[in-house]
Amino acid sequence: MSDGGAFDPKYVSLLWAGPDQAAEVARLHTELFSPPWSEESVRTLLDHPASTAFLAMVGGVPKTCVGFVLAQLAADEAEILSVGVAKDWQGKGIGRRLIEGVARAAQRAEAKTLFLEVAADNDAAMELYRRVGFLGTGLRRGYYARPGGEPVDAVTLSLKL
Ligand SMILES: CC(C)(COP(=O)(O)OP(=O)(O)OC[C@H]1O[C@@H](n2cnc3c(N)ncnc32)[C@H](O)[C@@H]1OP(=O)(O)O)[C@@H](O)C(=O)NCCC(=O)NCCS
Repeated sequence: MSDGGAFDPKYVSLLWAGPDQAAEVARLHTELFSPPWSEESVRTLLDHPASTAFLAMVGGVPKTCVGFVLAQLAADEAEILSVGVAKDWQGKGIGRRLIEGVARAAQRAEAKTLFLEVAADNDAAMELYRRVGFLGTGLRRGYYARPGGEPVDAVTLSLKL
């Protein structure tokens, strides 16, 4: 659990994530997204040779996993497939650490552009991406189904690396 007080995001360590971390990622994904990705589908993504993914770890021994980012690299482009921070740990700079970490890894792998897609009504994510420097590149109307509600547009964003 968070201590609820000031927290310095430099105390977050980013741990490279492979298939062995699928359960941690699936646990957080289930907390944050509906419908969630299964552990099996997360493992398949993390096992892909193009996968570039990190866990955000906090605390002493053992550390606790409070966030994740999953991305894929292809030629000189990279795409963020999903990112999330546990609810108790949001608003402390951890999402930004994850996005900047994966952007740096993509840059080192010689990617030139980082892409992602976000629901137009996801204010926290839109603000995070805007602050990191992503720019809007397009809109997919009605892309995200919302059970019992109107579909929501997807905004496509990109960051020059
Ligand atoms: C989106 C998400 C990953 C952000 O993670 P976070 O750790 O809370 O974000 P941070 O604390 O690093 O904030 C990063 C920036 O965004 C801004 N921000 C974050 N949440 C915000 C909110 N709810 N409203 C306005 N601004 C917000 C912060 O002010 C911060 O700006 P700064 O770095 O200039 O100070 C997190 O809210 C989350 O997991 N949401 C559920 C899953 C999700 O929607 N994932 C994205 C799918 S595309």
